[in-house]
Amino acid sequence: MKRSVTSIGSLIAFIIDRDDKTPVYKQLYYQIHAAILDGRLEAGSRLPASRILAQELGLSRNSVVTALDHLHAEGYVISRTGDGTYVADSLPEEHLAPRSGLLHIMTDDAILGPGPSERGRLFTELSVTAGPALPIPFVADLPAFDAFPLPLWKRFMVQSWQEVRPTMLGYADPAGFRPLRKIIASHLGASRLLRCQSSEVVMTSGSQQSLDLISRVLLDQGDPVWIEEPGYIGARCAFLAAGARLIPVPVDEAGLNVEAGRALEPHPRLIFISPSRQYPLGMTMPMARRQALLDYAERIGAWVIEDDYDCEFRYRGSPLPAVRSLDRSQRVIYLGTFSKSLLPSFRLGYLVLPETIQPVFTKAKAIIDRHPPLLEQIALGSFFKTGQFAAHIRRMRQLYHERQDVLLDELHQVVGSALTFTAADTGMHLIAFLPDNVSDLAFCDLAREYGISLRPLSIYYLSDRPKQGLIMGFAAIPVARIRWGVKQLRKVVDQMLSQKGTI
Ligand SMILES: Cc1ncc(COP(=O)(O)O)c(C=O)c1O
Repeated sequence: MKRSVTSIGSLIAFIIDRDDKTPVYKQLYYQIHAAILDGRLEAGSRLPASRILAQELGLSRNSVVTALDHLHAEGYVISRTGDGTYVADSLPEEHLAPRSGLLHIMTDDAILGPGPSERGRLFTELSVTAGPALPIPFVADLPAFDAFPLPLWKRFMVQSWQEVRPTMLGYADPAGFRPLRKIIASHLGASRLLRCQSSEVVMTSGSQQSLDLISRVLLDQGDPVWIEEPGYIGARCAFLAAGARLIPVPVDEAGLNVEAGRALEPHPRLIFISPSRQYPLGMTMPMARRQALLDYAERIGAWVIEDDYDCEFRYRGSPLPAVRSLDRSQRVIYLGTFSKSLLPSFRLGYLVLPETIQPVFTKAKAIIDRHPPLLEQIALGSFFKTGQFAAHIRRMRQLYHERQDVLLDELHQVVGSALTFTAADTGMHLIAFLPDNVSDLAFCDLAREYGISLRPLSIYYLSDRPKQGLIMGFAAIPVARIRWGVKQLRKVVDQMLSQKGTI
C-alpha cells in the first residue's frame, strides 16, 4: 500500500493513500475538515505552509492548495497574506451543536458561585450530545442536508409572514397552532393508522422537550421507569434528570422483553419503548409483543411512551399500527418529531396524549415556554397542505435507501467479513458488530484520526456487559463520501489488526 503520512503537533496525522481512487486533494481536505470539526485542530491554530505539507506528503503543491482553497471557501480556514493559513476563529457550524464528546461530565471545579440545586447538579452529570453536527461519514441521526428543499421552505416562511394577521402577533395557544395539529392528526390516521383528535395533539420543540414534559408531568422522585437496554440516551437523560429510578430491561429480537422487565421491577410507573424501530438496534416490535406490553401496562397501571422517531423511512414491508392505536385505556403517549423527516434545527415535534391528561401537559407547556414559535408552525402547515411534506418524504425514502445500498455494497467489497453488518429495513443507520473482545470506544477513537465519525454501540447500554459495535449513519452522507469513508474504515480495521492481532 502506497501511503504517506505527516503530522501537525502530536495529535494529528494526515494519511494520503495513493491506491485510493479518491483524489489526493480530497483525501487531504476531508482529513483537515474532520480534524477541525472534532477539535484536534483548534481555532486560530496555524497550518503548515502548503509547500511543507506538499513536501512531507509527497503531493504536488497544487493538490495541497486546492484542498486549502476548498476549506477557505467554506469558511474553515483563513489566510493572512504573507503569514500563512490559520483555522478560522469562528467556524461555520459554531452556531450549531457543541463539539462532540459523548457523555461530557462537568467536574466540581468547573462550577463557580453558590452552585446549582440538586436538580441542577443532575444536568451537569448528563449529556445528550453525541458527535459532530455535520455530515462527516458516518455521522448518525442526521437527515440529508444536501437534499433539503431550502428555497421552497424559504418561500413558505416568507408566505407565512405575508399572511400574518394582528391576532397572530401576541401569545398563541400553548398546545400549538390548531390547523397544524389538525393536519398532524389526519396525517397520523393515514400513515400510522393512529386515529386521534387534534385536541389530543400538543406541539413541542421536539422529542427531547416531549420527554422532559413527560418526566415533569408524570414522574415523582424515585419512580421506577423501564427503559430499553440498549436504549435511547435522550430518554435516559430526561428521566434521570427528573430523579427517576431507571430499570434497564433487555431487548430481544422482538424488542423490550416484558417478562425480563417484570422480573427486574414488576411495578414501573412508566415504560419507554421505540417499537417501530428499536433505537439503536433496529428491530420492529411484532404485534404480539405490543399487545403483551399493553396488557401488562394496563394491569399494573403504568404509562407507555412510544417514540416513533423515524418511522417514515421504511424500505421493506409495511409498518405495523402504532401501539397508541391499540390503546383502550388511555395510557399510551405517542412521540413524533420533525428532526428526522425535516431538520433537527427546526425544533418541532409533538405529543399525542390521552385526552384525560392533555390539559395538564398544555398547562405545563405554557409555564415552561408558553408555546412553540407560531410562524414556523404556519409554514409547516402549508408544507403539509401543498403535498410538499409527502413529496419530500418520498424523495428521502428513496435517497436513503440508495445510500444504504451503496454503503452495504462498499462494506461487502472493501471491509468484507472483518465486521458483521446487516441491512436496516427502516431508518437512517445500520450497525456493524465487533467481536466482544474489541473495544468499540478504542475503534471509534482511531476512526476519528482517519477522518470518519462512528458512534460506539456500548454507550447505549447501562449494564456492564455491553455489546461492542459501530453505529453507522448513511442518510446524511453523499455517495462519494460514503465510498471514501468505507476506505478509511478499512484502514482502521487494518491498523487495529496490525496493533492488536484482532479487530
Ligand atoms: C430515538 C430517538 N428519538 C427521538 C429523536 C429526536 O429527538 P429531537 O426531536 O429532540 O431532535 C432522536 C434523535 O436523534 C432519536 O434518536
